[in-house]
Amino acid sequence: INMASASISPEELEDLRETFAKIDVDNNGFISIDELTQLFKATNLALPGFKIREIVQEITKTSSQLTFDEFTKVGLMKSTEVGKTFRKAINKKEGICNVAGTSEQSGTQHSYSGLSYNNTHSPPNNTLPPQGSLFTATVRELKMINLSVADTIDERTINKKKLTPFTIQENLNLALNSASAIGCHVVNIGAEDLKEGRQHLVLGLLWQVIKIGLFADIELSKNEALVALLRDGESLEDLMKLSPEELLLRWANYHLENAGCPKINNFSSEIKDSKAYYNLLNQVAPKGDEEGIPPIAIDMSGIREKEDLKRAECMLDQADRLGCRQFVMPTDVVRGNPKLNLAFVANLFNKYPALKKPENQDIDWSSIEGETREERTFRNWMNSLGVNPRVNHLYADIDDALVIFQLYEKINVKVEWDRVNKPPYHSLSCYMKKLENCNYAVELGKKEAKFSLVGIAGQDLKTGNRTLTLALLWQLMRRYTLNILENLGDGQKVNDDTIVRWVNDTLTQAGKNTISSFKDGQISTSLPVLDLIDAIQPRSIKYDLLKMEDLTDEEKLNNAKYAISMARKIGARVYALPEDLVEVKPKMVMTVFACLMAHGMKCV
Ligand SMILES: *[C@@H]1O[C@H](CO)[C@@H](O)[C@H](O)[C@H]1NC(C)=O
Ligand SMILES: *[C@@H]1O[C@H](CO)[C@@H](O)[C@H](O)[C@H]1NC(C)=O
Ligand SMILES: *[C@@H]1O[C@H](CO)[C@@H](O)[C@H](O)[C@H]1NC(C)=O
Ligand SMILES: *[C@@H]1O[C@H](CO)[C@@H](O)[C@H](O)[C@H]1NC(C)=O
Ligand SMILES: *[C@@H]1O[C@H](CO)[C@@H](O)[C@H](O)[C@H]1NC(C)=O
Ligand SMILES: *[C@@H]1O[C@H](CO)[C@@H](O)[C@H](O)[C@H]1NC(C)=O
Repeated sequence: INMASASISPEELEDLRETFAKIDVDNNGFISIDELTQLFKATNLALPGFKIREIVQEITKTSSQLTFDEFTKVGLMKSTEVGKTFRKAINKKEGICNVAGTSEQSGTQHSYSGLSYNNTHSPPNNTLPPQGSLFTATVRELKMINLSVADTIDERTINKKKLTPFTIQENLNLALNSASAIGCHVVNIGAEDLKEGRQHLVLGLLWQVIKIGLFADIELSKNEALVALLRDGESLEDLMKLSPEELLLRWANYHLENAGCPKINNFSSEIKDSKAYYNLLNQVAPKGDEEGIPPIAIDMSGIREKEDLKRAECMLDQADRLGCRQFVMPTDVVRGNPKLNLAFVANLFNKYPALKKPENQDIDWSSIEGETREERTFRNWMNSLGVNPRVNHLYADIDDALVIFQLYEKINVKVEWDRVNKPPYHSLSCYMKKLENCNYAVELGKKEAKFSLVGIAGQDLKTGNRTLTLALLWQLMRRYTLNILENLGDGQKVNDDTIVRWVNDTLTQAGKNTISSFKDGQISTSLPVLDLIDAIQPRSIKYDLLKMEDLTDEEKLNNAKYAISMARKIGARVYALPEDLVEVKPKMVMTVFACLMAHGMKCV
């Protein structure tokens, strides 16, 4: 057995230790041949029983079970078939959703390679540093979040100097709560995981953050030229319902069709030979017909390369000339890594959509409406809870109520799943099946959740009546927030008054001004929120950064940004946006105070 590469990092060791514990089902401190067999079976990797026995015997010489040290050795057999299969099994078992995948040459994860992020809005070269000090790791996450959704994090709230375990923890809180606020699903990631740099979890989170940023503009309301992708007989609504992934595929095929090339079905096995990419690059490269943008002629000669890998390299050199090489290495193309290739294409789309908004064509542009702030907040909230499917378009994506049922479960309303129709729906009965679900969703709201749903019928959810759908969603979010408080307070009922009273008491004890309600005009300065944060965590607010009197609108917004980031930094998972405070939107104001109260109660 080749033990030449017996170096192992502390993180790897930690991962192996955890894995060991998971495989060691009977928890006796040894891994038996049986347990190993189960591992390989569970992960669908064929390794015959005799092979497993062979490995174990080779390593232990005498025994038929592995100690942790011996187990580590198997993991270190990087260059052997067995070692590779073993690592694959472990990775699969861990559910590693590795952004870059595992390099087969070395058997190690070089996960950050090629993962750089540069979009047209804000283009610093963010090639990720290899996992280094904890500080760079966290700041990197914070910057990425801020890049993906501009202005999510107030720079003033990041701890940068004299870092202690406590201030590091604060940075992590800020990263995780901000990621939630932009719609990342982070419930399974604790600050501990980020701190210890558990690669797969951190990468999973980073991938979500990157995706949100890359997909932000792949939407009709942000890019009207996408109408060019409309097919015969399709309505604008149909197009608006497509997910960013679907739109990207359609976009690629639109250009491939114009080039007279075969279409593709996915950004995985279909792009491995780089030929579709070559043609796509050739189609979207600037032709010099737009003022100020010089033409770039794609050199297509590399398409004749015999080897896939060489062809991919040549193709990426051409992509580089467009400034669009990010996210993939030649091997990622050849292996058809779906995530990285999707990111590569999304980045290309963002830089060179090469679509023209069709002249006229009886298109009712007024029906293309962007998302309101309130809608985005609801959507981010539900996505951060990990609803499946992810909600890209608030109304269209919940029109079968499946997401609503999942939200009911989050607020402890029992859903009888037998009564729920599940996709795929047959095209003939689709409408009825979805409507039945919506009717059931309204029924649950009225009877079980005891929501006030006067005048709301299933039909309104199905057709996406804005006012009525939002009324239901708000009650779901409100109940979710109150439930958290009730669980902390041993089940005692909580309502708006309870929260205002707690806020008043806490503010009074700290010698600060109180609020009259969530509509209090003072809230527009954010000072009550900041005072409350300072009361919960004394001396956390740097008042010298704030404007206290006679605030202009801009100064109010400035305070509000600081307040929202500070709330997240001390540990409150706030979804509201600075503008909600400035405009004193009572619903969102309520959620801010409720989250702070929940955090305050935990601190006591
Ligand atoms: C981005 O930064 C990396 C590392 O500093 C560097 O190697 C690379 O050339 C830069 N890329 C661009 C496009 O500037
Ligand atoms: C990022 O992209 C922009 C727009 O394509 C480009 O101008 C800028 O140089 C890029 N930045 C880096 C550092 O790669
Ligand atoms: C986040 O972005 C905004 C501008 O969009 C910027 O003012 C702010 O300093 C950035 N914060 C961080 C932490 O980079
Ligand atoms: C991509 O499409 C090809 C051809 O249609 C198919 O064989 C393959 O399974 C698809 N791959 C994925 C990951 O969907
Ligand atoms: C939504 O429902 C309300 C209340 O029934 C109704 O007044 C409104 O016209 C509906 N909106 C649409 C777009 O149907
Ligand atoms: C909070 O304090 C304000 C002002 O002191 C008072 O008007 C209000 O009634 C108080 N509200 C609660 C619920 O205690």
